Amino acid sequence: MHADSVRGFNRFYTKQIGLLRKGYLDSPFSLTEVRVLYELVHREHPIAAEISKALDLDAGYLSRLLAKFEKRGLIARKASGTDARQSYLSLTSRGRQAFAPLEAKTNKQAGEMLSKLSIADQKRLVDAMHTIEKLLGAQPEPKAPYVLRSHRPGDMGWVVHRHGALYAAEYGWDASFEALTAEIVAKFIQNFDPKRERCWIAEQDGAILGCVFLVKKSDRIAKLRLLLVEPSARGLGIGKRLVDECVGFARQVGYQKITLWTQSNLYAARHIYANAGFRLVKQEPAKQFGYEMMTETWDLKL
Ligand SMILES: CC(C)(COP(=O)(O)OP(=O)(O)OC[C@H]1O[C@@H](n2cnc3c(N)ncnc32)[C@H](O)[C@@H]1OP(=O)(O)O)[C@@H](O)C(=O)NCCC(=O)NCCS
Repeated sequence: MHADSVRGFNRFYTKQIGLLRKGYLDSPFSLTEVRVLYELVHREHPIAAEISKALDLDAGYLSRLLAKFEKRGLIARKASGTDARQSYLSLTSRGRQAFAPLEAKTNKQAGEMLSKLSIADQKRLVDAMHTIEKLLGAQPEPKAPYVLRSHRPGDMGWVVHRHGALYAAEYGWDASFEALTAEIVAKFIQNFDPKRERCWIAEQDGAILGCVFLVKKSDRIAKLRLLLVEPSARGLGIGKRLVDECVGFARQVGYQKITLWTQSNLYAARHIYANAGFRLVKQEPAKQFGYEMMTETWDLKL
């Protein structure tokens, strides 16, 4: 049943991206040849074994294909200093010239496919593709490191949405927590004092990975609020970094203390606060967000 669906999808998608046509992208090259050329463009002086491993290609087949490229003046080989049997491969300028229109055509083709969809559907499609890659064990492409930036229009909606969805999924909290988050961010925007308050958004390749806020409680006391990191980005030090940024900024602008409110079962967050020097100063049982919980206040003297 599932196998039929997979085969149906494969038939649809191979046609969709033009794999069934004679020359790939109306070029003189087959799909495999184009994939090998792609690897040669995007790797620095690879050896044949590296390409054969990356593309899961039979070594003999690849060797024949490379010999054909060499004969046509598309690639050059340079002997490896350490292993006489290996040689470093690179594209010649002729090879680059042959590949450039293919790269441009593939970009155009992908752009055309996406342009028929709304922005929301484009995101759904790309997310679904990432899901397929992840489930089938694709090695992730190297990603740009994350950056921290201050808030922009649209970010508060993300903060409310992700707090509502993640705390419901991870702790079963009800929608009153999402409502509280919406109140906090609304007040932050309405009363924003850029000299003494800040929101940090962690972002990678345009996708938001996490957030934290530092708001003014009084002239002397700042409050750290709404620390969150997307589950897919946890354990990489982003949570710690966000808390460190808050502490550094609070010191710099002259607060004497940072206070925060958390719950006894938010273990990773408590661990980060304790490591940053915060001390637990108050515990109080409370019924909120649909649960009996132990609320906690933690303070850091600056
Ligand atoms: C808390 C949170 C922001 C941490 O984000 P993160 O990017 O994974 O954090 P980091 O990678 O910087 O550090 C996580 C630390 O917690 C530790 N940790 C993770 N799970 C833990 C657990 N169950 N118990 C104790 N420590 C834990 C990790 O070992 C790591 O500590 P280390 O650096 O000393 O090894 C993230 O887990 C989250 O969004 N949780 C849900 C929301 C939340 O609890 N927010 C706090 C509101 S007060």
